[in-house]
Amino acid sequence: MNSPQPTAAGKSSYDLIDTDRFWEVLAVAPGMTVLDLACGSGRYTLPLRDKVRPDGRVIAVDLWAEGIEQVRAAAQNSPHDIPIETHVADAAETLPVASGSIDLCLMATVLHDLAEDDSDAKALAEVARVLKPAGILSIVEFIKQDGPPGPPKAVRLSLQEVSIRLLPLGLIRFGAVVELGPHTYFAQFRALRRSAGPR
Ligand SMILES: C[S@@+](CC[C@H](N)C(=O)[O-])C[C@H]1O[C@@H](n2cnc3c(N)ncnc32)[C@H](O)[C@@H]1O
Repeated sequence: MNSPQPTAAGKSSYDLIDTDRFWEVLAVAPGMTVLDLACGSGRYTLPLRDKVRPDGRVIAVDLWAEGIEQVRAAAQNSPHDIPIETHVADAAETLPVASGSIDLCLMATVLHDLAEDDSDAKALAEVARVLKPAGILSIVEFIKQDGPPGPPKAVRLSLQEVSIRLLPLGLIRFGAVVELGPHTYFAQFRALRRSAGPR
């Protein structure tokens, strides 16, 4: 028997957003190690690679094996480029990513799915674990309004609902909250630097 598909497998927000505005505000830079968490078929993953060239790294994780296959196939089309590390993994389990290794984690239209599955707390704790001190979590979420496109309003997360999940993990909002067109918004959170402890 086939295992059930993860929530929203096969869907992407990339065609719904103002991509110019997104790439303008995303705090990505050359040399960064970036995690695309719940990457789907990689619509954000491949352009992320362009942004971290020439010596950055991109890690793409999704529970949807078919999506990860598509990312792998697309990444192989450019063999001379920096590799994209791919994992079929559950965001709500221990991520196959080293602690304190990620400069920027992107979660594009997945946090509400995790919240609906009651697995958001575990997933966000994992994000906090893998981020470097002062690392960044960037989110794209659906504006809390009636769709379509997107999930029912009751499932969507407002900025406040996102922020209260992140504050206890030491992830503090910075920068502007930006509407990426009529359907989605974008916000970024920075991990508080951990204290160096007594000397
Ligand atoms: C709406 S899609 C967004 C995909 C991608 N971020 C994009 O916008 O192009 C949500 C993604 O979350 C993935 N997903 C859902 N639950 C997950 C989980 N527990 N762990 C990892 N991925 C999950 C789905 O397989 C799907 O690819």
